[in-house]
Amino acid sequence: MIIRSAIRSDLGAILRLLRELGDETPTHPSAVRMSSAAVRAWTRIETDEDRTVLVAERRGQIIGTLDLLLVANLTHDAKPWALVDNVVVEAGSRRGGVGRALVDDAVDRAARAGCYKVEVLSHERRHGAHAFYTTLGFDNTTEGFRRYL
Ligand SMILES: CC(C)(COP(=O)(O)OP(=O)(O)OC[C@H]1O[C@@H](n2cnc3c(N)ncnc32)[C@H](O)[C@@H]1OP(=O)(O)O)[C@@H](O)C(=O)NCCC(=O)NCCS
Repeated sequence: MIIRSAIRSDLGAILRLLRELGDETPTHPSAVRMSSAAVRAWTRIETDEDRTVLVAERRGQIIGTLDLLLVANLTHDAKPWALVDNVVVEAGSRRGGVGRALVDDAVDRAARAGCYKVEVLSHERRHGAHAFYTTLGFDNTTEGFRRYL
């Protein structure tokens, strides 16, 4: 398995994986629609030097993804911080170290960029994800608030 930065031709596989987050109306996995909005969003992402979408690839198949955002900052000696989001490993490949490899790679990138912290938010119902992040050294010490628009 390799972890690498995603390229445009990975977009369909990434969108298929993101369906597993269950944030949208479920569709058959083969019926993922690559909307023009998603393609426009990808164009913004790939030209943003503070944004990296990672993929885990095994035998030519994309089996996991993660979105890393570096945020410029005025506190902590103006060191940036990093946000990790949209972490998904395909259901059949879980508990095999793929998620850990994705997060480790993201944390390495954040450290190399001089970040002083990496943040991740996870819905309170995602108990498996909470155990995952705790195992990887993230402290559950903050209360998160979210207002959907
Ligand atoms: C959360 C997720 C990304 C973890 O990916 P993964 O490849 O299965 O994770 P790993 O195999 O690298 O797990 C590393 C360690 O984290 C812990 N862990 C991972 N998933 C866990 C779970 N469901 N329950 C308890 N501990 C878990 C274990 O200690 C594991 O090591 P072990 O398997 O040797 O015991 C994956 O389960 C997933 O895609 N879930 C659905 C989407 C989701 O919830 N994403 C997070 C959104 S915030």
